[in-house]
Amino acid sequence: MQTRSPLPNDREALVRLIAPERDSPFRPEEVSCALELLAAVLDPPEGNTYEARIVVDEGDQPLAYACFGHTPMTDATYDLYWLITAAERRGHGLGGSLLTGVERELATRGARTIRVETSSLEGQGGAHRFYLKAGYQEVGRIRDFYRPGDDLLTLTKRLRP
Ligand SMILES: CC(C)(COP(=O)(O)OP(=O)(O)OC[C@H]1O[C@@H](n2cnc3c(N)ncnc32)[C@H](O)[C@@H]1OP(=O)(O)O)[C@@H](O)C(=O)NCCC(=O)NCCS
Repeated sequence: MQTRSPLPNDREALVRLIAPERDSPFRPEEVSCALELLAAVLDPPEGNTYEARIVVDEGDQPLAYACFGHTPMTDATYDLYWLITAAERRGHGLGGSLLTGVERELATRGARTIRVETSSLEGQGGAHRFYLKAGYQEVGRIRDFYRPGDDLLTLTKRLRP
């Protein structure tokens, strides 16, 4: 298992990871947004701020994907936009280790804070619990943001004072 930046050759496998034919963890509008960001990562337009890292298996096939980027108008804040582990590989530490790797890399670049926005229903609340376990704090909640009963949660992790 290895972590690296995604390459244009990974596009098809990453589309399958982000938008599996069955049991997608994301709503169609979220999938569209995630694929837009993937396109920017693989073929960066001028001024692009989106970046990604993937965990690949022994055959160099992607198992987990993280997309993040510097938050505009901040000096040292980063957004984590998407984090996905292949459904059949969840619960084995891949998402956690990919997230830790991204945090370490951003820390070496001087990042102060990482922000994550997620839905309270993402993965039946699993995404929220995952981030809390990873040391993120819930700092904001807008009730019924996405639809009734589906709140927007903002979580952050501070990497340095
Ligand atoms: C959230 C997600 C990325 C976690 O990836 P993963 O590879 O399964 O996570 P890990 O195995 O590294 O788990 C790390 C820790 O979080 C915990 N965790 C992971 N998913 C959890 C869940 N659904 N509920 C509670 N805890 C969870 C694990 O138990 C583990 O805890 P431990 O360190 O005490 O053992 C994965 O479930 C996923 O892809 N979900 C669908 C997409 C999504 O919701 N992404 C997040 C929003 S962008």
